[in-house]
Amino acid sequence: MTKRKGIILAGGTGSRLFPITMGVSKQLLPLYDKPMVYYPLSVLMLAGIREIAVITTPEDQSQFQRLMGDGSKWGLTFTWIEQPSPDGLAQAYLLAEDFLDGAPSAMVLGDNIFFGHGLPEILARADTSDAGGTVFGYQVRDPERYGVVSFDEGGQRATSIVEKPEKPASNYAVTGLYFLDGDAPNRARGLKPSPRGEIEITSLLDTYLEEGRLTVEKMGRGYAWLDTGTHGSLLDAGNFVRTLQDRQGLQIGSPEEVAYTQGWIDHAQMEEHAETFSKTSYGDFLKQVLER
Ligand code: DAU
Repeated sequence: MTKRKGIILAGGTGSRLFPITMGVSKQLLPLYDKPMVYYPLSVLMLAGIREIAVITTPEDQSQFQRLMGDGSKWGLTFTWIEQPSPDGLAQAYLLAEDFLDGAPSAMVLGDNIFFGHGLPEILARADTSDAGGTVFGYQVRDPERYGVVSFDEGGQRATSIVEKPEKPASNYAVTGLYFLDGDAPNRARGLKPSPRGEIEITSLLDTYLEEGRLTVEKMGRGYAWLDTGTHGSLLDAGNFVRTLQDRQGLQIGSPEEVAYTQGWIDHAQMEEHAETFSKTSYGDFLKQVLER
């Protein structure tokens, strides 16, 4: 199989976080001690993905580049793609079609935060699955805010995925992490915009579901899939990261740590990173990783 490529979708207007996001992209906001985009980036890296397209608005792209560079500092290669207007999540596959060049992909939304024991294992399973696609269902109190997946009576096989239903058929939201085969851009081209004017990711997933080619893996209660969609939930997510990091003395969402443990950067490069951050506890952590 061709090596899977990554997409980080980090465009959008961030209008639910106005006025903060009137001057800066939502995905660059701090989640406690790191920019938000570090967390989904680390997830793709944990999945072993090194070639990544980062999709941003045209206005925000230079700021992302200032932060992330060309990816080489983490042993990655970034391809920068602009999304002129937020016309829907599935549009990412059209914008990234040349980049993907027929390869399967893992797309993560730049504002989705995942944490949990065993995450690398479920990512590896999704990467090697024969199905056309794999997505993750996560139980939430307010499913109507998300794409909602319903299951058959056995509770294992997905039967439908609906975007923000008024009457959700289950409490399982589809998270913003999508493993799809190389046919995704082709399928996205056939989709019509929804009444809200967007090419919906749920419509794209539906094409796989109808053919019985979509695996919906449940992410159990031992995982955290955190919301950053409102001012309150953004603060809560930051506090969650702080609480865990302070307790464990470990970092959530550190691209440097993942790059080093994957063997994508060497000891000297890691030392340079630790030096860059020497005035912060993040730098102390990177030093500890070196001493492990
Ligand atoms: O977070 C998971 C949910 O994400 C899924 O359960 C839903 O099925 C999916 O539609 C999406 O729902 P949201 O309501 O969260 O989508 P939103 O419009 O807020 O966009 C999600 C992120 O993607 C956000 O950070 C902005 C970015 N975005 C969005 C659109 C529509 C883009 O970069 N480009 C876009 O065109």
